Amino acid sequence: MAVPGDKSISHRSLIFGALAVGETRITGLLEGEDVLATAENMRRLGARVTRHEDGSWSVFGVGVGGLKEPAEPLDFGNSGTGARLVMGLVAGHPITATFTGDASLSRRPMKRIIDPLTLMGAEFHAREGGRLPLTLKGARAPLPIRYKLPVASAQVKSAVLLAGINTPGETVVVEPVPTRDHTERMLTAFGAKVEIGTDDDGLREVRLTGEPELTPCDVAVPGDPSSAAFPVVAALVTPGSDIVVEGITLNPHRAGLYTTLIEMGGDIEIMNQRDESGEPVADLRVRASELNGIDVPPERAASMIDEYPVLAVAAAFASGPTTMRGIEELRVKESDRIAATVAGLHANGVKVQEFEDGMVVEGRAGKVDGGGHVATHLDHRIAMAFLVMGFGAKKPVTIDDGAMIATSFPDFHQRMRELGAIFTIPNFAGPR
Ligand code: S3P
Repeated sequence: MAVPGDKSISHRSLIFGALAVGETRITGLLEGEDVLATAENMRRLGARVTRHEDGSWSVFGVGVGGLKEPAEPLDFGNSGTGARLVMGLVAGHPITATFTGDASLSRRPMKRIIDPLTLMGAEFHAREGGRLPLTLKGARAPLPIRYKLPVASAQVKSAVLLAGINTPGETVVVEPVPTRDHTERMLTAFGAKVEIGTDDDGLREVRLTGEPELTPCDVAVPGDPSSAAFPVVAALVTPGSDIVVEGITLNPHRAGLYTTLIEMGGDIEIMNQRDESGEPVADLRVRASELNGIDVPPERAASMIDEYPVLAVAAAFASGPTTMRGIEELRVKESDRIAATVAGLHANGVKVQEFEDGMVVEGRAGKVDGGGHVATHLDHRIAMAFLVMGFGAKKPVTIDDGAMIATSFPDFHQRMRELGAIFTIPNFAGPR
């Protein structure tokens, strides 16, 4: 099977395309709601964004400094990545824009973005605690900063770098823990000068020279390892499975789940490793496996930050406990993913201990009861993780709402049905 295009790379291809002069052609773009919202918002900022009949996309950009002030608010729906990256983009331009989102996004912290962008000269009017909706007045004369990230966040790093594009001089971001580097890779591909080094304390440092002339690129978006995680774990926990997931990026800053599942005894073969559009790509062959619980190293968190809910599902099928600590960031994702995962595991007969910064799942050695009803809290990854639990559990697992799955994996149900999944709507006559 194939999975949809990578969400992080899809957002960035539209945003960088909007800043380049001329046509950026994108193939494999994730056509999920989050990315479609970014496409619409790039139009509102002046870019021409079109979809071709063959499923490829074109962005005709306005050039660095050329964004227009949007007449309407920019609505990011469920997407923290879209909202935060575009705040960086707008902050470096002399325009004002209002950012809105759904109930989940309106609960998420934006202070982490507001702080550095304010230092660069942007002004924010936000709700109490720095929440959406907010209005951002971009800087007339943005100032380059050197910013050490207080949290390991690729979104914050990318927002500062995006603001730095239309800023004279050198904008520098220092990362205590390296996070996904798609922004750095794409900035380089579009012709900006980006240097990666280390600071005096040995921390990763990204230096961007501002006001580059960005040249359009062809972007081939690889498959999303965060989406592939669902069929991969489904295959591991369902006896008799043998599947191949094709063309996913195994960028080292994204591949932590696969390292972890292999350490747990997962039969995952990495095949046909290749390079596509500057990202390492491979196919994965996955066979049902008897898993063992492990201690997941906290320093691996950034490379698998979105995969903990589905890892917790794998851990439920493993023998022995799996410890996941150092993941307090999960509390401020689309939902509080530690609380939502713990509640979902309990509902399905799995013991789990909750900590402020993580959880320990008591594996049931292949015998998960299931039969539970899971609250998804507007979170696509909670929804998909617990549907995956239903593959291997004795009784079906029910979720309260599958609508958010369309934000990142619009054809999830169809793809999983092709692997043998049966989805039904409770109290509804006939399978869906
Ligand atoms: C993303 C970064 C991560 C991740 C999100 C996508 C990105 O968020 O959880 O799904 O594309 O930069 P943080 O940077 O907040 O950790």
